[in-house]
Amino acid sequence: MAREFTRVGVVGLGTMGAGIVEVFARNGLDVTAVEISEAALERGRVTLTGSTDRAVAKGKLAEAERDALLARVDFRVGLDALHDVDLVIEAVPEHLDLKQRIFAELDRVCKPEAILATNTSSLSVTEISVATTRPNQVIGIHFFNPAPVMKLVEVVRTVVTSADVVADVEALCERLGKVDVTISDRAGFIANALLFGYLNHAVGMFEARYATREDIDAAMKLGCGLPMGPLALMDLIGLDTAYEILDTMYRRGGRDRRHAPAPLLKQMVTAGLLGRKSGRGFYTYERPGSPKVVPDEYTPPAGDAALADGARAIAKVGVVGSGTMATGIIEVFAKAGYEVISVTRGAEKSAKVCEAVKTSLNKGVVRGKLSETDRDAALGRVTWSATLDHLADVDLVVEAVIEELSVKKALFASLDEICKPGVVLATTTSSLPVIDVAMATQRPADVIGLHFFNPAPIMPLVEIVRTIRTSAETSATARAVCAKLGKTGVVCGDRSGFIVNALLFPYLNDAVKMLEASYSTADDIDYAMKLGCGYPMGPFELLDVVGLDVSLAIQRELYLELREPGFAPAPLLEHLVTAGYLGRKSGRGFRDHTRR
Ligand SMILES: NC(=O)c1ccc[n+]([C@@H]2O[C@H](COP(=O)([O-])OP(=O)(O)OC[C@H]3O[C@@H](n4cnc5c(N)ncnc54)[C@H](O)[C@@H]3O)[C@@H](O)[C@H]2O)c1
Repeated sequence: MAREFTRVGVVGLGTMGAGIVEVFARNGLDVTAVEISEAALERGRVTLTGSTDRAVAKGKLAEAERDALLARVDFRVGLDALHDVDLVIEAVPEHLDLKQRIFAELDRVCKPEAILATNTSSLSVTEISVATTRPNQVIGIHFFNPAPVMKLVEVVRTVVTSADVVADVEALCERLGKVDVTISDRAGFIANALLFGYLNHAVGMFEARYATREDIDAAMKLGCGLPMGPLALMDLIGLDTAYEILDTMYRRGGRDRRHAPAPLLKQMVTAGLLGRKSGRGFYTYERPGSPKVVPDEYTPPAGDAALADGARAIAKVGVVGSGTMATGIIEVFAKAGYEVISVTRGAEKSAKVCEAVKTSLNKGVVRGKLSETDRDAALGRVTWSATLDHLADVDLVVEAVIEELSVKKALFASLDEICKPGVVLATTTSSLPVIDVAMATQRPADVIGLHFFNPAPIMPLVEIVRTIRTSAETSATARAVCAKLGKTGVVCGDRSGFIVNALLFPYLNDAVKMLEASYSTADDIDYAMKLGCGYPMGPFELLDVVGLDVSLAIQRELYLELREPGFAPAPLLEHLVTAGYLGRKSGRGFRDHTRR
């Protein structure tokens, strides 16, 4: 017969524990909430009341419900208070010896039939379980941060966890309104195994001054639709916790260098910069525990005036190319009031591009986003040409031709001969080194990358790629242009994948490796990332949309440039591409799209 859970215990009321107490109490369970000292207990109580008060203020919880919720929680110091609970979940800091000590103590204190659960993110549940005399009743229940909000729970079954314990915990998760995925005991389980390499890589980028914290975070939010950027997420997780998770994953997960904590993390933890909970991490917060970021000495000056500082005046823009990106970019510039000269390789291509721009603008009119007058004005600003010579007097050229270095280099050599001095020459390449293109000209200081995302009229992000020869004036001009286009321009160095692809594709590749290792299914991995981390799509959904061939090519580039062993493309990805399973566009990728 299934167990009845009436009273549960939570040990440790920090970032996770306080949230877990809220989840239980909100769903009608009585909770004994335990801390190590009166002061820590008080902090936990304040976190819980703060969170429930916010829920009331937002209209998500009635006042009476809040009062009933809080009345169900019994705050206590010391584990002895847990003698009558049916299940206890431990959420103390991520140290194996500490958790083992607590489990040995829980084993002594709790009634024999009680289930002992850990919220560990990366430690071995099996190793924790052997500190007790009842390892068959020990299980991992891994909630996500913030626990009251995130839908996912990873249920971690060890080789000795009883089947009835797993079933009862799964039923409990359902009662809590959570979606559970049940998996075996591997470092990082599903979500953290895919998340932490990415987070650590982002910290490494920041540490190497590859881009600012604001730009790294904006790139991932706007380029991938993530709910928050990686550095803001590190602050939410807590840098001490993140450090321990990475360190454990490095040691348990095959010593993948990508999990070796970035040196900066250790320094920040030592300096007491733990993220939101201490009021300062990558960002500075209004006060400890507050989600509100306040300006500090690293906050960039706001406003267009700051952006325009040192920028050249741009009125006339040439766009070279006739594909999807060129078409979108012409529309973006024309709508923003620039005079545009579109150059293709022939009148027929120009006619097609012109048609595509018209169709897209008309869609805007139908959807009520653009007036007919504005549409006509935008079209009136574009001149259609098949001759590069017409770019002699433009102020900015944006190149969006085929992704082949020889073609781009030849084009830039021609632009160098044709264009007037002082022109900014930009490439939209997504994978080639901008410096190679720049060196095809006699004016590398004027060359920069402007990496638009597809579809350009919709995606709010542009990566501004500065080479080691790009001048400050050229960068300032690119930033001012992005601002006028209504896009967020993020500045980064000239490295394979820039910010977004460099952070995104290794994660997707890791998901393929996880599937290949039969650790979980594509559906559960997709669920884990969507419900545990708030991603708009799971990795396999996204791979099928992007195209497996495109993803493989990007991953290969990253691997070849950085020679990071962990970046080696997953063999399964290579095989699927060889088999012609390219994703939605070919009807089949990780999933079969012909039957949907
Ligand atoms: N932070 C996250 O985003 C996140 C997400 C999922 C899981 N986890 C896991 O949850 C666990 C807790 O992490 P956290 O971020 O909440 O840590 P935290 O540092 O915010 O909180 C830990 C709490 O445990 C208390 N504590 C320490 N020793 C204790 C003892 N002997 N008895 C009772 N309480 C004790 C501390 O006073 C503190 O309040 C870790 O295993 C972590 O890996 C964290």
